[in-house]
Amino acid sequence: MKRYQINSPSGLDAMQLAEVDEPTLGPFDVMVDMKAWSLNYRDLGMPSGGYYRNDKVKKNPPLVPLSDGAGEVIAVGDSVTRFKVGDRVAGIFFQNWLGGELSDPQISSALGGAIDGLLSERVALHEDGLVHTPSHLSFAESATLPCAGVTAWQTLTLGHLQPGQSVLALGTGGVSVFALQFAKMFGARVIITSSSDEKLTQARALGANDTINYKTCPNWHERVLELTNGVGVDNVIEVGGAGTLEKSLNAARTSGRVSLIGVLTGMPAQNPSPMMTLFKRLTVQGIYVGSRDMFEAMNRAIEVNQFHPVIDRTFAFEDVRSAYQYLGGGKHFGKVVIER
Ligand SMILES: NC(=O)c1ccc[n+]([C@@H]2O[C@H](COP(=O)([O-])OP(=O)(O)OC[C@H]3O[C@@H](n4cnc5c(N)ncnc54)[C@H](OP(=O)(O)O)[C@@H]3O)[C@@H](O)[C@H]2O)c1
Repeated sequence: MKRYQINSPSGLDAMQLAEVDEPTLGPFDVMVDMKAWSLNYRDLGMPSGGYYRNDKVKKNPPLVPLSDGAGEVIAVGDSVTRFKVGDRVAGIFFQNWLGGELSDPQISSALGGAIDGLLSERVALHEDGLVHTPSHLSFAESATLPCAGVTAWQTLTLGHLQPGQSVLALGTGGVSVFALQFAKMFGARVIITSSSDEKLTQARALGANDTINYKTCPNWHERVLELTNGVGVDNVIEVGGAGTLEKSLNAARTSGRVSLIGVLTGMPAQNPSPMMTLFKRLTVQGIYVGSRDMFEAMNRAIEVNQFHPVIDRTFAFEDVRSAYQYLGGGKHFGKVVIER
């Protein structure tokens, strides 16, 4: 069978399509014939070993990339009880984070980073590391869920988002578009930013109440305050990091929440003053994808609401490199998918 592997931490050219043996099946393993995958921003850093921690490509290459994929069960080990042949499944991001609080050993079980990921024609995963996918979704749609979907879900549910509350989402990448869609599903008001007016039109078509172009309106936090009568929003989906955090803290309401998710503007070079967080009594919460319990709760909501994720573009399994380059170009709205 074929799989992609990153042979050394030296960039996208070090990622090759390799011919390898079929995986072996342990008693608790499930063999999945993979049908679709999705890319996340984190995957762009993996080929150069530029990811934060537990980086297999640096410590013990090769690394099979990608955390996110969906497929069909074609065999199960003798002791498997959760799945049967023919089930449609997706991998969970942290193979060992099933529920409760996140701990260090669970961080060391991240697919496509700490351990081999899913960009392979077939994979064998422990039955604990998979979920059933919502029955109305295609494999391509299901493949968008494990990282971006669960991250947005955890962010909004940890904040106990209520109908009528407000969410600010930064940019229109995978996490932010999921946050927009979920927040609308919860009956919340969404303000979303983008560098592109065209993408803001797409966001409005998905239900965004207010849009701000952060290029033409660099002080977008002031616009958020204007739009909320000087109050600020209940929950900020903070994917920008060092370059946006100060403004996000400004855009949140007193006693509101800022969910720290991403570092699109680079790793911290400056520290925002702690005073804003203190005087506004903000909850600033780090988010790291989510557990299997969260994934399953999200899938129930997706199924009941007949929710469909937004796929910007799909690439063939043979053309994975183009998918990486397309994501890196930042032209996408929502998710970039690979199918076979
Ligand atoms: N903590 C976690 O568990 C977790 C999980 C998933 C992702 N993340 C992180 O969250 C971030 C987003 O990930 P993703 O996969 O959604 O990325 P993505 O799909 O590649 O989205 C990138 C988009 O972010 C927007 N953007 C870039 N710079 C921006 C800025 N200065 N201000 C506002 N928006 C900006 C752009 O939107 P426009 O084109 O509309 O301007 C860009 O298209 C990344 O840093 C990623 O590592 C963290």
